[in-house]
Amino acid sequence: MTRWHGSRARNTTYRAIIKARVEAEKKLGPTLTLRHLLGRLNRSNLSWLAAVYGSDKGAASHGYVDHYERYLTGLRSNARRVLEIGIYRGASLQMWRDFFPHAEVYGLDIKEIEVPGSRIHTLVGDQSDPALLARLAELGPWDLIIDDGSHKQSHVLATFAGLYDSVAPGGYYVIEDMHTSYWPNGYEGGPPGMDGTSVSLIRGLLDGVNRRYAMRDYPDAANALTPVDEVHLFEKIAFLRKPRV
Ligand SMILES: C[S@@+](CC[C@H](N)C(=O)[O-])C[C@H]1O[C@@H](n2cnc3c(N)ncnc32)[C@H](O)[C@@H]1O
Repeated sequence: MTRWHGSRARNTTYRAIIKARVEAEKKLGPTLTLRHLLGRLNRSNLSWLAAVYGSDKGAASHGYVDHYERYLTGLRSNARRVLEIGIYRGASLQMWRDFFPHAEVYGLDIKEIEVPGSRIHTLVGDQSDPALLARLAELGPWDLIIDDGSHKQSHVLATFAGLYDSVAPGGYYVIEDMHTSYWPNGYEGGPPGMDGTSVSLIRGLLDGVNRRYAMRDYPDAANALTPVDEVHLFEKIAFLRKPRV
């Protein structure tokens, strides 16, 4: 039996859905109502929502949605606050709003971007600004934070340092597009093993997962470890889970 998830047939199907939606919008004019109506048909399916709203997290692009569904489905009905860094056209904010029926969805972008719709809030600012990050942390606790902003290494690290504490117990912090860790031009990346990249951040967190054992023999060092219960690393994307208590 062929696998549907990740299959060429599925990607082709979602490309066809996107094409049909784009064609319909050419005839009707850009209409959010059409997207909202389509979104409502299958709100628990992130591949569907990504295709409806045109997010590049979808099956036909980065393919992050399968990972998101796997880790976030358990949070769906309880999540109250979701924050994504990087809005662009607002596709993912709309997707999260539909996927999490009870959540207020916040987006931060360096550009002023309006995303219409209920339960969506947009904020303007630079993700590397510590004062802004402190204000965002105060808006938490966040059930989910996604960093899909500049993807500059120093920004990814500053955002994690400023916001991770504000993730709710059992919530997730997600870093997208980690391949930029290897891109020097414009992204401050470099060769494998270099410090100061999102990949090196994840490497450091592995001691945090094992902090109970590290603590026994190295209490001073262990105090400095980040409390994290799960680190799930895939190509280009990482999911970090905050301890439940
Ligand atoms: C990849 S797009 C976001 C896509 C969106 N999350 C989605 O999935 O539909 C990246 C966004 O990050 C924003 N950005 C770039 N540098 C930033 C910074 N320093 N602080 C906040 N946002 C930034 C850009 O303006 C752009 O809209």
